[in-house]
Amino acid sequence: MDLQFTIDLDLCIQCGACIDDCPFHIIEMSPDYPALNPTRIHHCIQCQHCLAVCPTGALSILGFKPENSLPLPESLPSAQQMAALIRGRRSMRRFLPDPLDASVIDHLLRTVANAPTGKNNRQCLFTVIEDSATMEIFRRETMEGLRTAVIEKRLSEGQGYFRHVVTAWDQGRDIIFRNAPHLLMVSVPSTVTTPDADMLIAMSYFELLAASMGIGTLWNAMIRWAFSEISTDMYQRLGIPEDHVKGYVILFGKPAVQYHRTVQRDEVQINRVRLA
Ligand SMILES: Cc1cc2nc3c(=O)[nH]c(=O)nc-3n(C[C@H](O)[C@H](O)[C@H](O)COP(=O)(O)O)c2cc1C
Repeated sequence: MDLQFTIDLDLCIQCGACIDDCPFHIIEMSPDYPALNPTRIHHCIQCQHCLAVCPTGALSILGFKPENSLPLPESLPSAQQMAALIRGRRSMRRFLPDPLDASVIDHLLRTVANAPTGKNNRQCLFTVIEDSATMEIFRRETMEGLRTAVIEKRLSEGQGYFRHVVTAWDQGRDIIFRNAPHLLMVSVPSTVTTPDADMLIAMSYFELLAASMGIGTLWNAMIRWAFSEISTDMYQRLGIPEDHVKGYVILFGKPAVQYHRTVQRDEVQINRVRLA
């Protein structure tokens, strides 16, 4: 495995930070500058901590050069900004009909691809509906699938709510999709070790990044139930590989409403443990 590990000898101050931070002890001082230990290269999980921790930007790995990283800590939002984002994000149920630019969606998904995954293998597949015509077809097919399930009496006791959903749809109210212009669904191959956590983290990051950009989102349990329990062919319709574990759905788009303050629910349940 060629990790393309290079040290700029003019910049390296031989501090050993890359050696200390490598989680699998792949780097050693050899003799004056950091180098890969050839017997341990196969342990590399491609985390790039060595590139990130180098104080002088002397280390490149996997073809990535330090000058193409965001500089830290100055690029980070403040703690106050982060707290405001967590408190101020809201579930959006009123969207403007016009779609977001494809470049905006691309930026969201490329950024979210930086979310952590259990084995650093980044195998989340983001299935997205970008154009209004496709969204419209998809909404109609989902609703017709639900209607067929109602007519054929395939709804179980706990799924009675979908009868109401279909009635509302016939009256011009879309209480599942909320007329959102875009849909995002995440899935991962079934071989992934931490599928649920990987997918929920990615979607949570998506929600927060979108909120920071003034884009509305709605986590959607109803679509998830509809697809996983009633209209199971919709996964195939979305082009999601059969062997994938299917994750959550988020609707998103330009908001038709603006919230002027946070709601107030800071109550928290904490189980503080002291053993000494
Ligand atoms: C996992 C999850 C699934 C959700 N599913 C739906 C849904 O199917 N339909 C809906 O209108 N809201 C859904 N919501 C939004 C919640 O109802 C919402 O978070 C709650 O009402 C609080 O409002 P807020 O998000 O604005 O604080 C979901 C939220 C989460 C976290």
